[in-house]
Amino acid sequence: MAILKVARIGHPALRTPARALTPEEIASPALQKLIDDMIDTMKDYDGVGLAAPQVHLDLQLAVIEVPGRDERAEGAVPLTVLVNPSVTKVGDATVDGWEGCLSIPELRGIVPRAKRVLLKALDREGRPIEVETAGFFARVIQHECDHLDGRVYLDRMPHMRSLTYLHEMEKYRHVDEDE
Ligand code: NI
Repeated sequence: MAILKVARIGHPALRTPARALTPEEIASPALQKLIDDMIDTMKDYDGVGLAAPQVHLDLQLAVIEVPGRDERAEGAVPLTVLVNPSVTKVGDATVDGWEGCLSIPELRGIVPRAKRVLLKALDREGRPIEVETAGFFARVIQHECDHLDGRVYLDRMPHMRSLTYLHEMEKYRHVDEDE
């Protein structure tokens, strides 16, 4: 087990589009260890997703897991490894929701995302997976796939007024809701 260093916004790795992995790379012990290390890193940082550019690698690889107890989630998302993923919107509905990112520590902002998406990817054994999903799982998928294109959630915010530090969010958010 190894905890990897997470790149913060400003590091060029976060703005570099990732490349697809070959079947040989996916099967390699080095890549399987990287997947395990990314899972360990995501858990250690209390994240719900981690993409390879966040650990300084331009590879189309991400891991996602949302524990059932997590207050951010409407439901648990099982541990999912995404290799060479593509995501497409299903329908026109969008939904606003709070996002944060391990590469942008302590901040949260409201981001509109497609409510429902179709995910096509490979799993860690290189087998195709296809999932249509909505809600928080769909949000996390879109956030992680953005990382693989060199994007972060700030790029998706139509305006910055909701941007808040976590501490202030917890302290003052109830004030907004009462107004
Ligand atoms: Ni992120």
